[in-house]
Amino acid sequence: MGINILGMGKYVPEQVLTNDDFTRFIETNDEWIRTRTGIVSRPMAGWEPTWYMGKKASLEAIEKAGIDPAEIGLVISTTATADFHTPSMASVIQYETGAVNAGAFDLNAACTGFVYALDVARRFLETDRTIKYVLVSANESLSRFLDFTDRGSCILFGDGAAAAVVEYSDKLYSSALGSDGSGGKYLYARAMQVAPEIAQDPPADFTSDFEDSPLHKLRQNGKEVYKFATQALPKSFELAAGKIGITKDDIDWFIPHQANIRIIETAAKKLGAPMDKFITTLDHYGNTSSASIPLALGEAIEKGLVQRGQKLALIGFGSGLTYGGIILEY
Ligand code: COA
Repeated sequence: MGINILGMGKYVPEQVLTNDDFTRFIETNDEWIRTRTGIVSRPMAGWEPTWYMGKKASLEAIEKAGIDPAEIGLVISTTATADFHTPSMASVIQYETGAVNAGAFDLNAACTGFVYALDVARRFLETDRTIKYVLVSANESLSRFLDFTDRGSCILFGDGAAAAVVEYSDKLYSSALGSDGSGGKYLYARAMQVAPEIAQDPPADFTSDFEDSPLHKLRQNGKEVYKFATQALPKSFELAAGKIGITKDDIDWFIPHQANIRIIETAAKKLGAPMDKFITTLDHYGNTSSASIPLALGEAIEKGLVQRGQKLALIGFGSGLTYGGIILEY
């Protein structure tokens, strides 16, 4: 059993940071960023909280789906950049969208969050047939967690939100989710001050600079993440495709996590699939974490690239290190 994506929505802040803008405060240049990442500009939240972006994207998704929000049975919000420790972004969005009969929780699988959440949504729809619709909202404000003195990471990310309303369907569907926690040390942001003895002996073999790394700031080993990502994208597809015996030739569109164009090109090569089957939006959005796959999918639908009946492969990776793939018929 699969899902039907009834409607999608998005919200992207108006404020945009171009590559040239970064030259005002770090040593970098447009050419380096373009050639190493494929990114040209990225939206940056100004006054907008993460939940607000999620609300706007969700309202649009509900409107496009043409449903009554009171019929939504579950709201899942994916974010690694929540405004609050509690309440969840999902509860705020549930209230703000009028989804008065829905349960609500957040799911943090970092940039793989949308893939994880869509798969969780499908499982709810399958096991509780009283749930008619699930709203999945992916909302991120990475800019608030960036170290704008670290030129290797701050140029990569953007802010935004995208949402989908989904329902039960008997369309083609397969998924595979994974995590390699040994790589947690390659991409992390500390949230709380802990006792010195714990900071000196951090979890999961974290790097030796863990103790000194500031709270709420992203720390990244770009080379290690890059290596992981180029394996994780093809693996995510192959694991999901293998379960239902389909191949890359059956796929109309690959919608990968938008982190770096070179990662996507390497993944395409490894899969033996042409780049023109890959949807990319990172030139104008950068890496919007869990919002990147639904933003790319929504934009491809709007442009008329992705059409009903086509087979899609959503493939992601992110901090965790997590990875995952979904194959579905749109
Ligand atoms: N502008 C100019 N120079 C920069 C720079 C920038 N923004 N960032 C790094 N550099 C410099 C480095 O300091 C280094 O200089 P050095 O040789 O004098 O030491 C040089 O460029 C090469 O750096 P390197 O880290 O080897 O570059 P790279 O080709 O590996 O690209 C990333 C760096 C971050 C773009 C790349 O590793 C990457 O995309 N990794 C994955 C990150 C990711 O996707 N994270 C999110 C996952 S969800």
